[in-house]
Amino acid sequence: MSIPLADSVVTYQSIAYFRELSEGSHVDQAPDREVLKQLIDTLRKRDYLFTARFPALRRPLWMFALEPHVFLRYVQGRTSSFTPTALPALYGNKWFRSHKDTEILYRLFYLNRNAEIDSLDRILGSEMLSGLVDSGMIKYSNGIVRSEYRLVPRGDSIFLSDPDQGNRRTTVQYVYVGNDSVVLADFAHRTMLNREYERGLDLCAGTAFQGYNIRSNCRSVLAAEFNPRAVDFARATFYANGINDSFSIVQSDLWEKVTGTFDIIVSNPPYYPASECLINSKILDVFGGTDHGMEKPLIIFDGFGQYLDKGGLGMLLAASPVIMGEDILMERLKPLAERHGLETVLIPWKFTNIKLDPEYQVQHGIDYLIHYIIHTRKTGNGSVILAGYPYLVKFLEKLQIGIQKRLSSWPGS
Ligand SMILES: C[S@@+](CC[C@H](N)C(=O)[O-])C[C@H]1O[C@@H](n2cnc3c(N)ncnc32)[C@H](O)[C@@H]1O
Repeated sequence: MSIPLADSVVTYQSIAYFRELSEGSHVDQAPDREVLKQLIDTLRKRDYLFTARFPALRRPLWMFALEPHVFLRYVQGRTSSFTPTALPALYGNKWFRSHKDTEILYRLFYLNRNAEIDSLDRILGSEMLSGLVDSGMIKYSNGIVRSEYRLVPRGDSIFLSDPDQGNRRTTVQYVYVGNDSVVLADFAHRTMLNREYERGLDLCAGTAFQGYNIRSNCRSVLAAEFNPRAVDFARATFYANGINDSFSIVQSDLWEKVTGTFDIIVSNPPYYPASECLINSKILDVFGGTDHGMEKPLIIFDGFGQYLDKGGLGMLLAASPVIMGEDILMERLKPLAERHGLETVLIPWKFTNIKLDPEYQVQHGIDYLIHYIIHTRKTGNGSVILAGYPYLVKFLEKLQIGIQKRLSSWPGS
């Protein structure tokens, strides 16, 4: 069965709304760069980067069957602060017992929980504290402080992003780092091994998380991102982490301002399905456009034909809707892969029935979504094959999907 492209003629107009928005209105940008730099320097001295390995993304308790796997990866140093866990208290507690001040900073700047002004005054000193308040980085009342930003530790750097808003995102120009950012970055890291590349591109870059990740293997990296606020955050992150100038960032609507070719392209674009009206009026980092949210990923994959060098490597995230048992991304990719000679492997990394626009998903009969890494090389032999997925993980994720669907509160039940 072939799922019709009914709503998918790639008219690609969703950006018009945001163009008006970025030209017409004022949105808070990154905080003062010097203040941010001082804070990041202090966090480094307090071993904040060490917390990057503690799994902190909560999953339902009954999924603890997957915990031995998480724990094993933790012991191997392969987890991140975005690794899902049913038992977050298991990780970090011991370390935090001997790093109490870092725990306060981690809870404030990574988990975005409240802190007491007196503790912060003691840890950071009054001068830095007033700098943070004056720059709007933190707000306080009645002796309680909260951070307006999130500081994400990763590798040797600390990224500036917005606090997590979960699935109920309300900020239009949201600056994103999430679990999928780390999934792609880890994959790119493993895939690149120790090879050297000439020119790398991070498309739909957000905080430039992916570009950052590949930079040590590339002579130069370009990050392209549409959201002006994210561009500003990425530049502030570069400055505060002392990154050199082999890295440039450009504001671009997908390929619009990208020139030349690349031997490696990484992209974590928006890829969730939503109705036209939501795409046009809300939340730039989440909805992937028409054709069940595959519009932007497909435009990017298509662009690999033009922007990848012969032999070049492309890595891209997308979510495939499963409709009446049919996983439809594969059939959308095949003609593009053949046209451009892209040898492609679809690597599943999560089965989920997350519903960001429940009405749309019910209307379009989307049973669930399969998250994929699209891994491609421009060899001239266009093809798409599907990689395997660990049986136990698939079983538990599909069980969770089944259980959620049976709940009377679940949309479409
Ligand atoms: C899921 S976020 C990922 C951010 C980053 N790549 C990462 O891995 O953390 C998707 C990003 O794509 C950006 N984006 C959305 N539409 C875009 C477009 N038309 N052109 C360029 N960037 C776009 C969003 O603003 C957002 O920063």
